[in-house]
Amino acid sequence: MNPVKVGLLGLGTVGGGTHNVLVRNAAEIARRAGREIVVTHAAAREYSAAGLEGIDRVTVGDDAFAVVNNPEIDIVVELIGGYSPARELVLQAIANGKHVVTANKALIALHGNEIFEAAQRRGVTVAFEAAVAGGVPIIKSLREGLAANHIEWIAGIINGTGNFILTEMKDKGRDFADVLAEAQALGYAEADPTFDVEGIDAAHKLTILASLAFGIPLQFERCYTEGISRIEPQDVTYAEQFGYRIKHLGVTRRTEHGVELRVHPTLIPERRLIANVDGVMNAVLVMGDAVGPTLYYGAGAGSLPTASAVVADIIDVTRTLTTDPENRVPHLAFQPGELSDMPVLPIDDVFTAYYLRMTVEDRPGVLAAVSGILSEHGISIEAMQQKEPAEGAAQVPLVMLTQSVRESQMKAALAQIEALDTVAGAVVRIRVEQLK
Ligand code: HSE
Repeated sequence: MNPVKVGLLGLGTVGGGTHNVLVRNAAEIARRAGREIVVTHAAAREYSAAGLEGIDRVTVGDDAFAVVNNPEIDIVVELIGGYSPARELVLQAIANGKHVVTANKALIALHGNEIFEAAQRRGVTVAFEAAVAGGVPIIKSLREGLAANHIEWIAGIINGTGNFILTEMKDKGRDFADVLAEAQALGYAEADPTFDVEGIDAAHKLTILASLAFGIPLQFERCYTEGISRIEPQDVTYAEQFGYRIKHLGVTRRTEHGVELRVHPTLIPERRLIANVDGVMNAVLVMGDAVGPTLYYGAGAGSLPTASAVVADIIDVTRTLTTDPENRVPHLAFQPGELSDMPVLPIDDVFTAYYLRMTVEDRPGVLAAVSGILSEHGISIEAMQQKEPAEGAAQVPLVMLTQSVRESQMKAALAQIEALDTVAGAVVRIRVEQLK
């Protein structure tokens, strides 16, 4: 049988890794796919041939549309990232009847509904395993391995850069900016690092996971997103004293009123396996009604781990080239006509427990005033710590954990607490999840 011809868009960190894995493991890959898979064409504005094994056998140009429009190419692999021209290139490839493999989480989260509809109409596949958690096969697991289950919730550490920063702050007390610079130098961070630290990258990935888990259209615009740039070392320390770790989690949960879709720093009990996922590693915890909790762990970024997922998709697509399009695994795990209109809940309607830290005057009645306001709003205190004042200091930190409360109630209570003369500045609040 003729080899399957791949056109690679991008020869950067992931594109270069994909090329190298396809070359290095060619024989093993052909045994799995049933056919040889070769990169015949690539497009890259700038690239270094050093380190790209056998790149001289590939026609490399700088026009990505020329690759997409080349009639010889069977599978277009989009690894340039960003929204545009990635969207136009992918839609053009689909219009040309080509299958597409992409690692582009931003593209799928924002334009996936349009892209999958176009692919469905044209009878081609758009595969995107590498878009979430790099080399961890979480998309295949959700779409196929867990297909028997009613998925209840997912909680994931799905941004390696953010996890690296929080881990270094906890273990070494390092400064936020300093750790971010190191993550950038290691090639993990997004081109715009605010995507990592403000949770946008994680929100792209969570949006995709929620669609696959619950069979709902992609709704990135409804994802609540809060970053880690306001986490202070003292919060990491207090969390530890309560027996918790702070992780930047993406959480999506099916409730009777709708789907929760939220990315934010979160206290989780230190004894949970996922609380011990450190550095740039990713982990996704999925709760299915039949299987119970399952945890998927591995490298969420980097050249070869991401290439591992991209090449797995290329093999999958190759295996299905001769199958009837109606009988392929649906893009979003559920048949396109079976997507649900279950709403995504506004964050104000979400229930979580909270960690609160406030700076208060060290005098009688302060604690009573604070706890009185919480009680008026139906908020129950689970645990509390007040530190001794430093020598000569008039203010002390008051740190507490609350029981679960509706977000809008917590906001109202905090507004009243912050208005007290005896409370200085804003109250720091971080959500708490037990992940049971
Ligand atoms: N910037 C991302 C991360 C890369 O740090 O996880 C992988 O999507």
